[in-house]
Amino acid sequence: MNTHPLWSEGINRPQYFALAEEVNTEVLVIGGGLTGVSTAHLLARTGLKVTLLERDRLGCGDTAHTTGHLTYMTDARLSELVRVCGEEKAFLSWTAGARAMDRIRQTVRQLGVDVELREVPGYLVAAESDDIEAEVRKMEEEAEMARSLGFDVRLLDNVTPTGRPGLLFASQMKFHPLKYLHALAAEAQRAGVRIHELSDVGDFGENPRHVIANGHRVTFDHVVIATHVPLQGLMGTMGASLFQTKLASYSTYAIAAIAPSGTLPEIIWSDTAEPFHYLRVNRSPEGDVVIWGGEDHKTGQKVDTTECFGRLEQSLLEIVPEAAVSHRWSGQVVETVDGLPYIGEITDRQYIATGFSGNGMTFSVVAAMMIRDKIIGQHNDLEDAFSPCRKELAALPNYLRENKDFPYRMIKDRLGIEETRPEQLKIGEGVVLKLDDENVAACRDAAGVLHCVSAVCPHLGCIVAWNPGEQTWDCPCHGSRFEADGSLIAGPAEMGLDPSTKALPESELVK
Ligand code: FES
Repeated sequence: MNTHPLWSEGINRPQYFALAEEVNTEVLVIGGGLTGVSTAHLLARTGLKVTLLERDRLGCGDTAHTTGHLTYMTDARLSELVRVCGEEKAFLSWTAGARAMDRIRQTVRQLGVDVELREVPGYLVAAESDDIEAEVRKMEEEAEMARSLGFDVRLLDNVTPTGRPGLLFASQMKFHPLKYLHALAAEAQRAGVRIHELSDVGDFGENPRHVIANGHRVTFDHVVIATHVPLQGLMGTMGASLFQTKLASYSTYAIAAIAPSGTLPEIIWSDTAEPFHYLRVNRSPEGDVVIWGGEDHKTGQKVDTTECFGRLEQSLLEIVPEAAVSHRWSGQVVETVDGLPYIGEITDRQYIATGFSGNGMTFSVVAAMMIRDKIIGQHNDLEDAFSPCRKELAALPNYLRENKDFPYRMIKDRLGIEETRPEQLKIGEGVVLKLDDENVAACRDAAGVLHCVSAVCPHLGCIVAWNPGEQTWDCPCHGSRFEADGSLIAGPAEMGLDPSTKALPESELVK
């Protein structure tokens, strides 16, 4: 079983040099996923001097962990968006998705590259329910609402592969996210973007505005923070922490399987279960590649993440019995309190793009267009709807529900810590221990190496939890993630877990 995303196999991945000197740039873009690369590309085309810094390799974060679908259909149902945000903002949100799809279609045509871009039907299908008639009535209302806003949506009685009623969304799209990203990065470089991988940013400073990366100073006028969960950057600590409370990180799981050619049509599909499942079907010389996902939960709040993959495999085999599972991986989804993303200027000439929910690829491109417009002073009708500074009064109940976790986990996870040393810690296992006064996160990685680091999340001090499915430490409060050795995978924390001063003696642990 491959435990990496399907997309990372067999692609031509060019490499870019790490930053090794001081740089002066007009726009600094931090983050080399689809948001960062698309933004850098569009800005360079306006003639601005642009530098992009990526901590690891381009596309190795959440861009590689998506399922490659492009759609205007948001995770939040249209009726819910209208209720919380109003009809105008709901309409703008779907329109933004449609514009992003047009933009990608146009870019692929201009670049003349094969990134497996296909136009396919999208479906939202009723999950098993005690009251299927009520669900169908709700879907009919959704379809009517969507049509009244100008979108081509129809109710069908029987949608493959489950045979249940569902909505058909015409002309959605899917692509190979890493092929697209690398083609776009190469074009951005040709347009003048200076791209550096393995270039982690550290301290920000003012007068002049700058950041230190790889020990070198990068001065800039504008900064675009395209890091999935935004870094604090030049924003005040209080403001950044308050903004963070409007975001919630969820883990989602995906498996890929091969089925005989023609088993399923090429589609993108999701259902109305809680949490929902999603399905994508791609063609390949070996047969149909079926991607099946779901089992979402708040990051760091599920003890046995391997069970999520087990349940996914079981549910896939129920609908596609011939499927042979070849890959499994997980991704991170950032939700907002009202279902719309946050894109725009959060403090003077600092721009963020986050909260894309399950529509990461689509909203990445929306963000690139919006941030370009903001920097060059061009009007964009999405600015108010997606503003990071907007007020979401109607979403207050969602805000309170998502934020009850922080005080609860802060106390509960400290009380639940093991008081004694473990007698055994086998390969792939991790545990949080109380050693004297210190909370220690101890695990043994796949190579048998024991790691002992502080269990205290450097963001706001919650206790991390071991994720056995991904072999990572995940924070249950705001979703920061760390490698087994404590190094940072994803924020809002901006640094890794501290080394432990109470390393466990190797003799007390067995492999
Ligand atoms: Fe906020 Fe860990 S992510 S305390």
